Amino acid sequence: MIQVEREDAVAIVTVDRPEALNALDVATLTGLRDRLREHADDDRVRVVILTGAGEKAFVAGADIKYMSGLDVDQAKRWGALGHEVGRLLETMPKPTIAAINGFALGGGCELAIACDLRYAASSAKLGQPEVNLGIIPGWGGTQRLARLCGLGVAKELIFTGRIVAAEEGLRIGLVNGVHDPVLDKAREVATLLSSKSPISLRLMKELANRALGGDHAANLEAEGRVFGELFSSEDAKEGLAAFVEKREPKFAGR
Ligand code: CAA
Repeated sequence: MIQVEREDAVAIVTVDRPEALNALDVATLTGLRDRLREHADDDRVRVVILTGAGEKAFVAGADIKYMSGLDVDQAKRWGALGHEVGRLLETMPKPTIAAINGFALGGGCELAIACDLRYAASSAKLGQPEVNLGIIPGWGGTQRLARLCGLGVAKELIFTGRIVAAEEGLRIGLVNGVHDPVLDKAREVATLLSSKSPISLRLMKELANRALGGDHAANLEAEGRVFGELFSSEDAKEGLAAFVEKREPKFAGR
């Protein structure tokens, strides 16, 4: 099941299925999709943290027992549901942070890399072991891993199924930092981000998501347009004025 906690403007969404190391079956993945949709649309939530219950796992992947009985059409629907969850994390108009405690394998690693930021506990183990099951990463791993770590590293990881420890994850750009306890670090960053202008964050996320695709000149043009338009917002006026007046800004999100 999915647990949700709210701490001011930060929502902590926890995958809680300890008997399967938080592996995602249909009910759990659908619940996760639904909770993420709610948080995407709720302006009171400014940052979303995704984590797994317990010390041992973030998410040990898609549920292999469930997948072992799927036919082609069912597998396509299962892949599409995972993609929907990944896209929600990647495109919701606020930052998403993965707090990776323990195993983040297969679909678990794929959901972590769909988030904007990733922090790992020193015990974390990440990877895409699908090749060992005779399948392929199906929730974004063939695409997003290359965007984070480069194509050469990504191919090595998905071809071999090799699991990497937290420190190596940091070295190859798979995680942003290694911290114990990792949820405290995720909370700290989330609290910091929730003090920023949600409009700036939303627009930066949207623009940064275009950085590795599409037309570079058109993307720069979009940045220029958005930069200019933002000057009509209360937050821009407040942020600029606060600097000039030597005080802390207070962003209302307008
Ligand atoms: N699906 C279903 N059940 C899982 C699971 C998974 N992905 N991962 C762990 N479990 C279950 C185990 O079957 C076990 O349950 P039982 O006691 O009922 O058998 C329980 O969780 C505890 O696991 P282990 O006893 O195996 O724990 P361990 O500490 O010995 O090993 C592990 C931990 C190395 C993570 C091992 O469980 C493992 O290899 N899990 C599978 C990881 C994996 O291959 N993930 C990718 C799945 S494919 C995918 O995600 C496709 C995609 O791209 C969408």
